[in-house]
Amino acid sequence: MKFFLDTANVEEIKRISALGLVDGVTTNPSIIAKEGRNFEEVIKEITTIVKGPVSAEVVALDTKTMIAEAHNLVKWADNIVVKIPMTEEGLAAVNILSKEGIKTNVTLVFSLAQGLMAAKAGATYASPFLGRLDDISADGLSLVKDLRSVFNTYDIKTEIISASVRTINHVQDVALAGSDIATIPGTLFPKLWKHPLTEAGITQFLQDWETFSKK
Ligand code: E4P
Repeated sequence: MKFFLDTANVEEIKRISALGLVDGVTTNPSIIAKEGRNFEEVIKEITTIVKGPVSAEVVALDTKTMIAEAHNLVKWADNIVVKIPMTEEGLAAVNILSKEGIKTNVTLVFSLAQGLMAAKAGATYASPFLGRLDDISADGLSLVKDLRSVFNTYDIKTEIISASVRTINHVQDVALAGSDIATIPGTLFPKLWKHPLTEAGITQFLQDWETFSKK
């Protein structure tokens, strides 16, 4: 499974990229707003740090303007993926952009039907939102499992980005479910390599070594 970082914070991206763990980055308007920086400036900076796909989202709701935004976004760097909301207008934009060879990430996918529509329209990626489904007592993981199963059955090449990932268990579960990618918030990522027993083990090893060395 590939790991994307779900952040526009360049310090987080640099820190985790230095470990060789980052295959791409996803952003959305809320994530960009949180950084308080110019959209174009921050996306361009991210594309210089990460060589893999960097998703930048359109804010228009009509097809024509989405396409115009997409054409502008892809001029910023070679690795930009245009993030498009899962609407009728969005699907029409994805259909046109995919025929132009522009990579798209259909976002806000909450059902198997929506995932299928995104794939059929030509999306490079589809992003089911686990955490937001769990928030309403639905089952985000089942959606990822169902998408994986149906995409396998019909040999659909659209890659599944498990998004709205909130916990270590989410990451582990979507890996087991066969998600192509998990996009992980910068605050969650460091928790993936930590374990209390690892820390306790190191402390114990060092204590024992100190005791032995003094003998
Ligand atoms: C990524 O593509 C999504 O925009 C993001 O994972 C949404 O996460 P949230 O539901 O925690 O806002």
